[in-house]
Amino acid sequence: MKRDVRILLLGEAQVGKTSLILSLVGEEFPEEVPARAEEITIPADVTPEKVPTHIVDYSETEQTVEELQGEIDKADVVCVVYDVSEEATVEKIRTKWIPLVNGNTKRGPRVPIILVGNKSDLRPGGSMEAVLPIMSQFPEIETCVECSAKNLKNISELFYYAQKAVLHPTAPLYDPEAKQLRPACAQALTRIFRLSDQDMDQALSDQELNAFQTSCFGHPLAPQALEDVKMVVSRNVAGGVRDDQLTLDGFLFLNTLFIQRGRHETTWTILRRFGYGDSLELTADYLCPPLRVPSGCSTELNHRGYQFVQRMFEKHDQDRDGALSPAELQSLFSVFPAAPWGPQLPNTVRTKAERLPLHGYLCQWTLVTYLDVRRSLEHLGYLGYPTLCEPNSQAHAITVTREKRLDQEKGQTQRNVLLCKVVGAHGVGKSSFLRAFLGHSLGHQDAGEPSVYAIDTVQVNGQEKYLILCEVAADSLLTASADASCDVACLMFDGSDLRSFALCASVYKQHYMDGQTPCLFVCSKADLPGGVPLPGLSPAEFCRRHRLPAPTPFSCVGPVEPRVGIFTQLATMATFPHLVHGQLQATSFWLRVALGAMGAAVAAILSFSLYRVLVKSR
Ligand code: GTP
Ligand code: MG
Repeated sequence: MKRDVRILLLGEAQVGKTSLILSLVGEEFPEEVPARAEEITIPADVTPEKVPTHIVDYSETEQTVEELQGEIDKADVVCVVYDVSEEATVEKIRTKWIPLVNGNTKRGPRVPIILVGNKSDLRPGGSMEAVLPIMSQFPEIETCVECSAKNLKNISELFYYAQKAVLHPTAPLYDPEAKQLRPACAQALTRIFRLSDQDMDQALSDQELNAFQTSCFGHPLAPQALEDVKMVVSRNVAGGVRDDQLTLDGFLFLNTLFIQRGRHETTWTILRRFGYGDSLELTADYLCPPLRVPSGCSTELNHRGYQFVQRMFEKHDQDRDGALSPAELQSLFSVFPAAPWGPQLPNTVRTKAERLPLHGYLCQWTLVTYLDVRRSLEHLGYLGYPTLCEPNSQAHAITVTREKRLDQEKGQTQRNVLLCKVVGAHGVGKSSFLRAFLGHSLGHQDAGEPSVYAIDTVQVNGQEKYLILCEVAADSLLTASADASCDVACLMFDGSDLRSFALCASVYKQHYMDGQTPCLFVCSKADLPGGVPLPGLSPAEFCRRHRLPAPTPFSCVGPVEPRVGIFTQLATMATFPHLVHGQLQATSFWLRVALGAMGAAVAAILSFSLYRVLVKSR
């Protein structure tokens, strides 16, 4: 929204431009006026729209043509003043003033114009007949008004219309020649309608209309007003009201009516509330509210975020089967400019027979929020979070975790989303490992496109964590600038072809050996016969020397259950990094977990005994 408004008054000599300005300011008719009034600025708080407003006079005797052109270029709106009692001044609107203002602009935005018929005290209502044809000839004329500087009639109205023409312009909303909403406006209102249609029956019930009304204007409609609205719509549009509810056609008609009746600020209020700016695009403020993410921190949805996205899921799961079908997903995406999740989805989260269950849906949100929080904020914006939720910004749906360095110092993390890089040479089975994570066996036929990410939940000490696996080709990590950072590294080599171990070992030495990231070597294809040992350290020996857990065998063949263990192990190592860094520590870690469990059991027994003692002693 504009921060100030500059109004320029033009017109023939002696029509009363200076008198109008001085009448507004002095609240009385000045008998004597200078040729040109000084520029005045009206402070925001005394204007109806609360924006500072500058009013600029023009005088033929005091200004050159160049100066006039300069003022026109600076103006946000031009009032072309004529004298209702002087027909010649009306004629000049068409022949001189409008061409002067917008003559150079062929297409594109024109400066809005207000026609002002002054001296209405001399000939009230007399100029309308002459002015209406001019209005229909020039679409940039917002409105016309007759007034009198002498009687102080319609003076503040005139400046209010001028201000409104700038702040709530009609041009982007409405095509006066076609007498209909412009496509961008209809599209924006359609999104707003869809977001407001909570039960997805393609119509707004009284309750939905009132929620919408309250969200936009701060209060619901009076019951009678609600009935009147529906009455007007049903009289004018076939199918505008269905089963006593307002349809999309009805909603669009209603907005057309507002605009045609000069109440376009109503439509602007609705559009702005749902995030649209002057060019009818969602503003950056709405889509990307500021959120500071210091380096070393990660981003997660918090309970508000999950609650909102789950609400959206339930709204679009029309058959209530706990999963979104392709059509239901498409309807969820209908308020986005383009489908946000690509064809990799079925290889990134768990899906079920081409449907996206709630679990997979939440995983996908978690992944996007972790990898690209700006995109996640944007998606929440498209879904209307800032309009539909309190507080009004989707930044409140995100938790920024504490710096990783602090986690490492404390030896524990509060993060709920953990990243595991799966590193290995070409063909060692990284993609199959990711697929196994999503519960697929080796022969599984992929739907969609391959994904380098897979995400699912894993239990760590009875707590649910999201684990992201990210597939990385080992050779890409051997370049100097490579980013190998993650919460746990899974270094994979092919147990049936030990040549693949060397690359893993190099990556380990280059990136992880001196760092704090826990590492697990995984020996893949464990169902195949072991490969021929090579000269040099064996994988087991290498791990022992570096105080790493022994290589964990893994196979994609066979029942799913035994495979789950390795993902739990990775997530556990990511959650308690210092405890599992070395093999010896790994032992002590499991010991601690066991002791912890025993401790809890002992405490339970003790407190139970104590309870018995207390009860008995009564
Ligand atoms: P220039 O500066 O020469 O371009 O003229 P202007 O458009 O500024 O007109 P100005 O305000 O100087 O007024 C011209 C004459 O019209 C003055 O004598 C005013 O008193 C008179 N006048 C202005 N407004 C009204 C009005 O509303 N009614 C009547 N009856 N006379 C008016
Ligand atoms: Mg003047």
